[in-house]
Amino acid sequence: MKDHYVPSTVDSCSGGVVVFNTDYGQVYTYKQNAVSRQRVYPMHNSSINGVDDMATLQDLHDGAILHNLQLRYTQKSVYTYIGSILAAVNPYQRLSDLYDATAIERYSRHHLGEIPPHIYAIANECYRSLWKRSNNQCVLISGESGAGKTESTKMILRFLSAMSQQSVALSTAKRASSHVEEAIVESSPIMEAFGNAKTVHNNNSSRFGKFIQLHFSQHGNIQGGRITDCILCPEI
Ligand SMILES: Nc1ncnc2c1ncn2[C@@H]1O[C@H](COP(=O)(O)OP(=O)(O)OP(=O)(O)O)[C@@H](O)[C@H]1O
Ligand SMILES: [Mg+2]
Repeated sequence: MKDHYVPSTVDSCSGGVVVFNTDYGQVYTYKQNAVSRQRVYPMHNSSINGVDDMATLQDLHDGAILHNLQLRYTQKSVYTYIGSILAAVNPYQRLSDLYDATAIERYSRHHLGEIPPHIYAIANECYRSLWKRSNNQCVLISGESGAGKTESTKMILRFLSAMSQQSVALSTAKRASSHVEEAIVESSPIMEAFGNAKTVHNNNSSRFGKFIQLHFSQHGNIQGGRITDCILCPEI
């Protein structure tokens, strides 16, 4: 947190000296003068309570963003929006109920922003936009090694696969499911067995970037897909 604003409370104020305790355990002492007044300012309410869309933060600097993510992380909220962008913080533990069938059902029935931020909301927006915008849709996932890109990709595939199966079930034609959905979801561990390796950052680090294409029919079911490896990662 060096060179960032950090959330602090005033511990004492006497003799022209103010002592601040930061939320991260440091102690700072400032003399009351014009220079220190530029380095300290009151935190806005939006930063005190935390927000689930950081586009609504009133304090606009790195410190406010990091503090908001940290605040939410301690409340087990690993997802936060920045407008239509989703920031995901790796929980490094399985959060029960977060990704189950009930969650898929819930997020498939709400627009982005109506209920708490979630990777399923992004997947749902993407799926619905295929018809809303009559155009191809794309989700770009980025982050440092171990951030959770591969896990996020699998969550999106899981959601889209569920939507696909639902559309088959709802179809009046009752087309037989071709099991393409299962094939795509179940191919992940196999691809990872060949393409991933243990590094200092991640026990299951992908050695390649992936470009995953899914082809949907007009009825909403997945007809096929293609996974292309790209961008050789030099880091070991
Ligand atoms: N949403 C999540 N819930 C639970 N655990 C997670 C989640 N996201 C990531 N993890 C944990 O963190 C590990 C690393 O995540 P992941 O492999 O997705 O990182 P990555 O961004 O793909 O990294 P790399 O660039 O090295 O491939 C996972 O194996 C998993 O244990
Ligand atoms: Mg990966």
